[in-house]
Amino acid sequence: MNYRSTRTIVNDINSNLFKFYEMFRDNHADYIIDRIIKNINTFWLLRRGVKQKSEEAEIYKPRYMKMREYANQTKDWIDIYSCMFYAFSQQMRFNSKGEFNMPFGNGAFTEQNEQYIRDGCAFFHRGSVITTNFDFRELKVDKLNPMDFVYLDPPYFNTTATYNENNGWSMQDDLDLFKLCEQLDARHIRFGMSNVFKCKGKENTHLIEWCEKCGWRVYIFDNFTYMACGKGNSEAKEVFICNY
Ligand SMILES: C[S@@+](CC[C@H](N)C(=O)[O-])C[C@H]1O[C@@H](n2cnc3c(N)ncnc32)[C@H](O)[C@@H]1O
Repeated sequence: MNYRSTRTIVNDINSNLFKFYEMFRDNHADYIIDRIIKNINTFWLLRRGVKQKSEEAEIYKPRYMKMREYANQTKDWIDIYSCMFYAFSQQMRFNSKGEFNMPFGNGAFTEQNEQYIRDGCAFFHRGSVITTNFDFRELKVDKLNPMDFVYLDPPYFNTTATYNENNGWSMQDDLDLFKLCEQLDARHIRFGMSNVFKCKGKENTHLIEWCEKCGWRVYIFDNFTYMACGKGNSEAKEVFICNY
């Protein structure tokens, strides 16, 4: 998002995430923030987090559940987005019926979140940003040129996240993504990929071997605490892999 370019294409296969990108693109930040605050007030939620398992959490959990029920009825993306701030780990997940189904968390909609919305809207309002919703295998590498930069933020093979449950990302996906990177490199197009070499004691050996084989530059973020690896897990080895 900080990359300066004349044109930026943001792609994700998840149609729900795509809807959120559209929500940032089509609305003014003040409007989104006002609507979230209105929902918070309607359902008597707080602007600060509550401690899990405390008496306070028992009070706010049913209020969150009411807001979630309401959002699943209106199916309005700002209503669903409002729920995310009060959901477990402030994450998004939808069931097979398309209903937002994250349990109650101990977070809250903060001033920092307001800033994220302002930054997100500023980005998606740029006329040069296009959002697309396709499988990465459909990327037309021959339409790109060495002035382009491709940033890849795939699910991590050896971790589980809400977008990655139920075998959502397989070994074959990793291998196809590696192939795409090699095709980009062959055309002198720069790519950068976020990933993890090690998480919860499990090494992604095929990723490590691929980096060694191709001689990619690897930046390691030591002691990075990534949510899917468990908070405070100093064993997690988050990496940025690139060909430049
Ligand atoms: C680590 S998340 C990154 C999401 C986004 N960049 C962000 O920061 O919010 C990985 C993303 O890869 C997407 N994804 C999974 N399989 C995909 C595929 N075959 N093609 C394109 N995107 C895919 C998931 O939907 C998920 O949103």
